Amino acid sequence: MKEVKSSFTVSIHYDRRLFEYDIAGSMAHARMLAKQGIITAQEARAIVSGLAEVRQEIRGGTFPWRRELEDIHMNVERRLQEKIGDAGGKLHTARSRNDQIALDMRLYAKDIATQALQSIARLRKAFIGRAERDADVVLPGYTHVQRGQPVLFGHHMLAYFEMFGRDAERFRQARDRADVMPLGSGALAGSPYPLDRESVAKELGFSKVSVNSMDAVSDRDFLLDLESAAAICMIHLSRLAEELVLWSSAEFGFVQLADDYTTGSSMMPQKRNPDFAELVRGRSGRVIGNLVALLTTLKGLPLTYNRDLQEDKEGVFETMDTLLPCLDFSAGMVETMTLRHERMRQAAQQSYVLATDLADYLVRKGMPFRQAHGVVSRLSAHAAGQGKFFHELSLPTYRRFSKLFEDDVFEVTVDSSIAQRDLPGGTAPRQVRKAVAAAKKALGLEAERVP
Ligand code: ARG
Repeated sequence: MKEVKSSFTVSIHYDRRLFEYDIAGSMAHARMLAKQGIITAQEARAIVSGLAEVRQEIRGGTFPWRRELEDIHMNVERRLQEKIGDAGGKLHTARSRNDQIALDMRLYAKDIATQALQSIARLRKAFIGRAERDADVVLPGYTHVQRGQPVLFGHHMLAYFEMFGRDAERFRQARDRADVMPLGSGALAGSPYPLDRESVAKELGFSKVSVNSMDAVSDRDFLLDLESAAAICMIHLSRLAEELVLWSSAEFGFVQLADDYTTGSSMMPQKRNPDFAELVRGRSGRVIGNLVALLTTLKGLPLTYNRDLQEDKEGVFETMDTLLPCLDFSAGMVETMTLRHERMRQAAQQSYVLATDLADYLVRKGMPFRQAHGVVSRLSAHAAGQGKFFHELSLPTYRRFSKLFEDDVFEVTVDSSIAQRDLPGGTAPRQVRKAVAAAKKALGLEAERVP
């Protein structure tokens, strides 16, 4: 029973991955204690070099992990004591595991948010690359998965560039929220020692120190920020993945995904399944689940530290371990897919995507839009009934629906439709070229901000 009881509280199997942060935090703390005359310089040197040895052992895989010591903090500290003796017992002066774990998670959150930003930047670069390379590719834009109006493929790609730009913004915000140094909060009430919290913050790369010790040891909203940024980002990835699945189907036939991202069916030899895209789409589920789990864990928790908070880790680790490869594989798919230009153009041409343009044609000749809408809707129904597309109808047929139709109605084409949407935000080639240039510039500026 004793064994069962103690293993219930153990977290070392997942919090061991925090060792770099835990040790960096301890080194900074020890140096500060010496600087403030709380321990001697000699003790601090022993602690720091002992911690460096411990770190070497962990990195090299020779560290003796002990489950009975529960967590990363106790494992590191006990090993330090074994190495340097009594001085090791002074490391925990003016510190509690409560502010220590808050510190470790904040260092982790800052780091992983930066990695997410780098992966998002790569993905956004892939969209720009396609928008440039496939500048003149035309496809139908859809609403309700019904062909709506023709657009340039580059315009479609840059829609995703914008979407993931907001995700980047959210990760930068999450990183800023995590950028608060909690050491000095002690167990909950602050510390009776003359600590220099600012110098610890500086050494660890934090831009500020926490304002209230009770908040500092109980706050986990910086992880909610991270997890919600991740969940929204995964939802966006799932939308992209869904389009790749549709586009690569025989029914659409717009793209062929690179072999690296598809697998054969074990039974049906003709198939190349878009498994990577499907897995990206599918994994959004657990990322949303982890966000809901953490929200639920935090709900109703009284101040300050409660052991419930230990439950923050596995979810956030799994979330970020899921998100980062999904971002990278999505970038890979976008970079390497082959576009079927002809199929895409055909899908636009062999459809009624010019209906809006024909209505606008009548409007330019003086007809009120509502009336024009009615005319073209009757015209479309007639054409569809005949099994014909607009360009296959004769002028007399057009004129049965409105006398405003003249010879120049045949100048309404997929390309003219696109070219006319020449306002900022539209799909005209000129606008898309401008948008590509602006996107490149924006991404370059962001790259300077992401270390
Ligand atoms: N393993 C704990 C956690 O992850 C560390 C803090 C434990 N503090 C305590 N007073 N038991 O939250």
